[in-house]
Amino acid sequence: MDTYVGKLGSKIFFSVAIFMILFQSSSSTAVGVSGDEDLETLVENVADHLSYSSSNYGVYEMDDLGNEPWTMVQKKGNQFVVNDKPFYVNGFNTYWLMVFAVDQSTRGKVSEVFQQAASVGLTVCRTLAFNDGQWRALQKSPSVYDEEVFKGLDFVVSEARKYKIRLILSLINNWEGYGGKAQYVKWGKEAGLNLTSDDDFFSHPTLRSYYKANVKTVLNRVNTFTSITYKEDPTIFAWELMNEPRCTSDPTGNKLQSWIQEMAVYVKSMDPKHLLEIGLEGFYGPSTPDKVQFNPNTYAQQVGTDFIRNHLVLGVDFASVHIYPDSWISQSITDAHLDFTRSWMQAHIEDSEKYLGMPVVFAEFGVSSKDKGYNSSFRDTLISTVYKVVLNSTRKGGSGAGSLLWQLFPDGTDYMDDGYAIVLSKSPSTSNIIALQSTRLMMFNSMCARNCRWICHKKHPLDAFLFHDDL
Ligand SMILES: *[C@@H]1O[C@H](CO)[C@@H](O)[C@H](O)[C@H]1NC(C)=O
Ligand SMILES: *[C@@H]1O[C@H](CO)[C@@H](O)[C@H](O)[C@H]1NC(C)=O
Ligand SMILES: *[C@@H]1O[C@H](CO)[C@@H](O)[C@H](O)[C@H]1NC(C)=O
Repeated sequence: MDTYVGKLGSKIFFSVAIFMILFQSSSSTAVGVSGDEDLETLVENVADHLSYSSSNYGVYEMDDLGNEPWTMVQKKGNQFVVNDKPFYVNGFNTYWLMVFAVDQSTRGKVSEVFQQAASVGLTVCRTLAFNDGQWRALQKSPSVYDEEVFKGLDFVVSEARKYKIRLILSLINNWEGYGGKAQYVKWGKEAGLNLTSDDDFFSHPTLRSYYKANVKTVLNRVNTFTSITYKEDPTIFAWELMNEPRCTSDPTGNKLQSWIQEMAVYVKSMDPKHLLEIGLEGFYGPSTPDKVQFNPNTYAQQVGTDFIRNHLVLGVDFASVHIYPDSWISQSITDAHLDFTRSWMQAHIEDSEKYLGMPVVFAEFGVSSKDKGYNSSFRDTLISTVYKVVLNSTRKGGSGAGSLLWQLFPDGTDYMDDGYAIVLSKSPSTSNIIALQSTRLMMFNSMCARNCRWICHKKHPLDAFLFHDDL
């Protein structure tokens, strides 16, 4: 407990709350069920205190006293570890950080979203480290960069560190937003290449060389705020090869597989210190016909991706899965979305344990407020469902390593909301759910050294708090 509180360096009432939990849960073993109920009430109270509100904003704001060194996230077996302790992830996505950071008038939003995320204990942010050929492009044309935009990305990385948030940085888009593979193909055509499909991005040697040159530039960037080279920076949790790669022109999956093989080795050879993931949505493909039943629809097995085969590629450290029942199954909300979410997650956790031997991160999940039948309590239920499945895996030392909300927006950015934005100040109940999950995972991370897994602290009084099924 001391280690935990010291490391967290949080405000006093938080320490007191933790003490009360410990105290209460120790005594609750004697009084049985009613004690557990008291405990649960306490837990919810703590969660209330932890969550967003104007008065306790920044509960998780940490000072630097007694903190552990800020080191690289590593992987041991199917767990992430930092400083030899488990690192289970409660995180979020905010895709536009770099572009907002370019302009002084919008830069503050980057700090705001980090601050608000940190206030509910979120520790990982996935965002774009690319913008190819568009407005405020980072890469204006192949290997030509806008220094001001690069400084924007520098700011994002340095600011994340201030809030103790680590970044998963994606290196290109499959889709057209912010350029994507279509922009690379356009550049190729402009250079006189005979290209007929956007999927030529994956196969044409010149486009592969464009991609690699960009990777090389980004990974070797020296941050103008911190002077730390990106590939040496522990603030970066991992690189992502591409956001949601699909290669529908080759349903066998061979074309994409070969691209992943080449690029994974390339990234790891340039930067062996950071973890790498592909960015896949997680569809099962032709290599596992018995698994396609878990896909949300039959189209999913024809998009040229293959969850298990792709993730077995040398250099890939962990698996990614996205969860969008409202876009994959039906745009009308039903309980079937929750059932799908559970079985989709469970299947991927089991496969990551059995076949991949790596952690799996549910790197995007959310629901649009524009869906038919949507209400905020459904969104809360969906989030709780995802969190519970992660916790169920955590308690067993399984591969379920964490989840990243899609997506967190600070106040005043509603005009960009496509329906999926979560603004914490406007969603107190959601904030509570997020804060409780953060607390549970953080306590697990803090209390349990890696070699002391679930088994050895099975009788620990915190169990009731960490593993109580009701969120
Ligand atoms: C361009 O490529 C297509 C498909 O690979 C091929 O059919 C066509 O003949 C090529 N055109 C030229 C001018 O080389
Ligand atoms: C919220 O939406 C869900 C799913 O559409 C529905 O089952 C539930 O009754 C709704 N709850 C409220 C309070 O409207
Ligand atoms: C978590 O595990 C418990 C016990 O194994 C099970 O009853 C529950 O349904 C699981 N919850 C989810 C959301 O998978």
